[in-house]
Amino acid sequence: MQIRQKNQEFNFDKYSSFEKSIDPKQRAWIEVKGKALETNVRQLKSQLSKNCQFMAVVKADGYGHDAKVVSDYAIKGGASQLGVATLKEGIKLRSSGVKKPILILGNLYTKRDLIISFKNDLMPTISSIRECLICNNIGKHFGLKFSLHLKVDTGMSRLGFESDEFVQQFEKIKSFENISIDGIYSHLSSADEDNSLDPKSITQLQRHKFQEILEQINVDRNHNIKTHLANSAGMLINKDFHFHMVRVGLSMYGYSPLSKIDKNLSLKPALFLKVKVAFIRIIDKGVSVSYGGKFVSTRKTKLAVLSIGYADGVPRNLSGKINVIHNNNFYPQVGSITMDQMMVDITDSNEIKVGSTMVLLGSDGNKTISPLDWARESNTIPWEILCSFKNRLPKVHVD
Ligand SMILES: Cc1ncc(COP(=O)(O)O)c(C=O)c1O
Repeated sequence: MQIRQKNQEFNFDKYSSFEKSIDPKQRAWIEVKGKALETNVRQLKSQLSKNCQFMAVVKADGYGHDAKVVSDYAIKGGASQLGVATLKEGIKLRSSGVKKPILILGNLYTKRDLIISFKNDLMPTISSIRECLICNNIGKHFGLKFSLHLKVDTGMSRLGFESDEFVQQFEKIKSFENISIDGIYSHLSSADEDNSLDPKSITQLQRHKFQEILEQINVDRNHNIKTHLANSAGMLINKDFHFHMVRVGLSMYGYSPLSKIDKNLSLKPALFLKVKVAFIRIIDKGVSVSYGGKFVSTRKTKLAVLSIGYADGVPRNLSGKINVIHNNNFYPQVGSITMDQMMVDITDSNEIKVGSTMVLLGSDGNKTISPLDWARESNTIPWEILCSFKNRLPKVHVD
């Protein structure tokens, strides 16, 4: 392309390769540590009995880490199954070459979606006789068995057969010739609460209910059916929650959902959020910073403008409540977080320059900031923090 201006000719063609090689670390990015994922899975697996399987929960693009990368490293660490939330997530993972069994944890209720699931070798979660019948008909149509997991509701009141009807319905389901029941499961609602060892806690009551149902349907006699109940918190409570398989998300990514952490467990965060300093300015005492002027400098202040904002997934309600790390030092974020940028007080630093890298989540030296810290400050949960990062943030994979 040529642009003619004031008798001068500019030829941009020779710069066209620049666009193809925009550095993913030029603005803000997520660094995913594959080895951390692998060792976390290995460590968590070592807490399970020999025959208990590990399902790596990689829904929501692997909790914002990249589902394919997480799956590959989780499998290296010993995961034998993968859990996704949606049909699309399952198809994407299957077509990326993942061969292990994949369970869709969300509900598929149309014949069309169930056929697509069958065609892509994805196991659906089934919560009703109606869905079982559709699966059986699909299996019959193709002259094959449709593998699936049955879900029982033991106290979450989300998906699953009613617990007091399940035993009776299971007898009917067993007679369906074209389905293969690969698993029976339930989901804990409150395992990360501090009272989960209390026999009267919801968590223990759910476990009892699940156990009772399995005894009534004599599931242990059928070793082909995997039973599973525990998420990260459930698996970390104790072995009573492990059954034939655990479904682990948060702790595989390096964070414990329990307030008391097992001393033998040293989980490593697999996600680092990093950003470049895009601009530096010095403001006088008494100058307001960002929208609404919520921060006013109390001294002559050096500000770093970082290229990241709420459109990248940093919650705006963290404004003025977080630190950023550079070279083993914390620097406070000041003023409202804007859509694409935020300001940090770097008055005490002589070394931070335009183009320097700062750490929003992860470690630098012996300083660490975790999604658990952000969650506490923004009154949410670490799961939500991890799932909020937007595609605009490139993911860079490092070992
Ligand atoms: C059905 C189901 N199982 C397992 C998990 C994994 O939970 P966690 O991230 O707490 O390990 C989830 C996540 O929400 C889930 O919905």
